Amino acid sequence: MCMVIFAPLFAIFAFATCGGYSGGLRLSVDCVNKTESNLSIDIAFAYPFRLHQVTFEVPTCEGKERQKLALTGDSSSSAEFFVTVAVFAFLYSLAATVVYIFFQNKYRENNRGPLVDFIVTVVFSFLWLVGSSAWAKGLSDVKVATDPKEVLLLMSACKQTSNKCMAVHSPVMSSLNTSVVFGFLNFILWAGNIWFVFKETGWHSTGQRYLSDPMEKHSGSYNHGGYNQESYGSSGGYGRQASLGPSSDEFGQQSSGPASFTNQI
Ligand SMILES: *[C@@H]1O[C@H](CO)[C@@H](O)[C@H](O)[C@H]1NC(C)=O
Ligand SMILES: *[C@@H]1O[C@H](CO)[C@@H](O)[C@H](O)[C@H]1NC(C)=O
Repeated sequence: MCMVIFAPLFAIFAFATCGGYSGGLRLSVDCVNKTESNLSIDIAFAYPFRLHQVTFEVPTCEGKERQKLALTGDSSSSAEFFVTVAVFAFLYSLAATVVYIFFQNKYRENNRGPLVDFIVTVVFSFLWLVGSSAWAKGLSDVKVATDPKEVLLLMSACKQTSNKCMAVHSPVMSSLNTSVVFGFLNFILWAGNIWFVFKETGWHSTGQRYLSDPMEKHSGSYNHGGYNQESYGSSGGYGRQASLGPSSDEFGQQSSGPASFTNQI
């Protein structure tokens, strides 16, 4: 099951690249009066990007006085939301993996497992989309606020052309860009998985049955519960897979699905 293998891994990549971030930029202010200059002003910031709380001091180039400044903006809500979604998606997909592998029978009991799995998968797909979009916007704000050229505009010393203000280095953003990419990859992974989980619920073949023969709805077998699963299971698909383990599950399911479906009709 590709979902089982990739979902926890992709979730880890998403929250590790965002939640583990720390970066910085360096500026230099070269005053007319060299003794007032500071050629390496370091500004460090990290997750969760409460940039307005990142303060630093820069020379004013007017005597010994310094100017206290802070970066602008606050992307903490989108960053924290993104990481929270990633952590919970990780925990859920890990738990789902354990259930798929060790509790196959319990999972299918009363069809409750597939039903819960379906709902949770839909919810997480939505959360990944919202979280990734919000964090993509948050990241673009972070990029503007930590752009050395933008920071230099805050400094009074740099408004005088006689003082030379320069960006020494910009923050490295590659891991944050990666986190956004993995956010959307996770969305695609979870949204794509909706279809497979949907098939597990049995609604898929029920709908087909209903369409092909509306009268069958009233037949006795319909109300006995587990109508669909029984015929599904008795086709040999799941019994065989249980002993083969999870990796063969997906394949067995895909090949046996349409076959048992045809058998039902
Ligand atoms: C320059 O600024 C840094 C902070 O970025 C500070 O630690 C350092 O002491 C300053 N240097 C001088 C010469 O004021
Ligand atoms: C340069 O700055 C130092 C210390 O702030 C001051 O003593 C000195 O007079 C200044 N020199 C000039 C030319 O302004």
